[in-house]
Amino acid sequence: MVAPLKVGIAGLGTVGAEVIRLIESQGRVLAARCGRGARVVAVTARSKSKKRAVDVCGFEWAKTPLELATHPGIDCFVELMGGAGDPALSAVEAALNAGKSVVTANKALLAKHGLRLARAAEKHGCALNFEAAVGAAIPVVKTLREGLAGTSISRVYGILNGTCNYILTRMEQEGLSFAECLKDAQRLGYAEADPSFDVDGHDTAQKLALLASLAFGTKVAQSAVYVEGISSITPEDLRAAADLGYRVKLLGVAVRTTKGIEQRVHPTMVPKSSSIAQVMGVTNAVTIDGEGIPPITLVGPGAGGAATASAVVADIADVARGIRAKPFGRPVAQLRDTKKAPMERHEGGYYIRLLARDFPGTAAAIATRLAEQNISIESIVQRHANGAAVARAGKASPVPVILVTYATNEDAVRRALQAVQHDKVISGRPQVIRIEKN
Ligand code: HSE
Repeated sequence: MVAPLKVGIAGLGTVGAEVIRLIESQGRVLAARCGRGARVVAVTARSKSKKRAVDVCGFEWAKTPLELATHPGIDCFVELMGGAGDPALSAVEAALNAGKSVVTANKALLAKHGLRLARAAEKHGCALNFEAAVGAAIPVVKTLREGLAGTSISRVYGILNGTCNYILTRMEQEGLSFAECLKDAQRLGYAEADPSFDVDGHDTAQKLALLASLAFGTKVAQSAVYVEGISSITPEDLRAAADLGYRVKLLGVAVRTTKGIEQRVHPTMVPKSSSIAQVMGVTNAVTIDGEGIPPITLVGPGAGGAATASAVVADIADVARGIRAKPFGRPVAQLRDTKKAPMERHEGGYYIRLLARDFPGTAAAIATRLAEQNISIESIVQRHANGAAVARAGKASPVPVILVTYATNEDAVRRALQAVQHDKVISGRPQVIRIEKN
């Protein structure tokens, strides 16, 4: 009988406690599945005396994450502290340099230092597993790295932030404002300590950078991701989207184009009939387009203690089995530089909401500016503020005009809207939402 894998855990919050509970309750199943059990032997956290959901008295307490990472009694270091810098960075690096495999849920660390850490893992023949960093319990890292190793991927996109999807779902279903829904997301504990990280799209961007590297064999580069958040979305946009047959989701999209790998995070209109549009609340989903096969969509819980712990324990199980997959699916030396496809050259349909001055010639002026940029209009509707479409202009106060374009490019849309603003036929800034076809 092979001795159990000896595990050290740094970070004993909700996820850490759940990992300990799972390893204990699933001990026999794990041993049967992996041919070897796993046992937590040592732990560390900021506070030793804090009341926790599990009893940690039976484990050796390391004074620091670094001490735990290099502890001669552990085989596998589990990093659940979070943060792109120290103590997580130096502890993970020290563990790898000491020849210990690492399991982490830390998307920020991987998005920033993934290559450096993958190099260390490779050099020392260790695993650096991070399934929990993207979509928590959804096995998307494994799917891209192993399950689709023989498939050429053209696009990977998804709902990667539960907080944003919860907010957009409630805004759509209950007609509530962004601010009201954000408050509830915070109260329910979905949002990060600083919710701007969620709602401004940075959490999604970090996860997308990891998925793009796995899907396209490129170096992880968070800086190559174009990012827009959801704070400008109004219930009016969601109502208009519904009328047009769409839903608005914060998507992370990585797509192979002739200009490079486009990586972008922004509110997106998706057809109501698409799989991704059905995903409501805090649930996450990822769709993968592979050559020669229909799209694959993985849906599941993307946040929370139990969901994250499920992926962490699966990664520990792989270490116990002796699997040492290359963290990003291939040797670091073979990962290609990320060529950032410029957002200005993004091609697709656009939803545009303008507050138009209601006088003769406004619609013509807007249409002219779009035509100058060779933008073809799929639909145009003028609405009263209460959302009811009207056939003719009646009042002097500004009225919302909603336009949907056929496929065009970002640069053309930006130029046309700049000209429309310059013509002074609209009030305020135009709202622009990109449309993603399935
Ligand atoms: N704040 C994140 C979310 C948690 O809302 O999805 C998981 O990364």
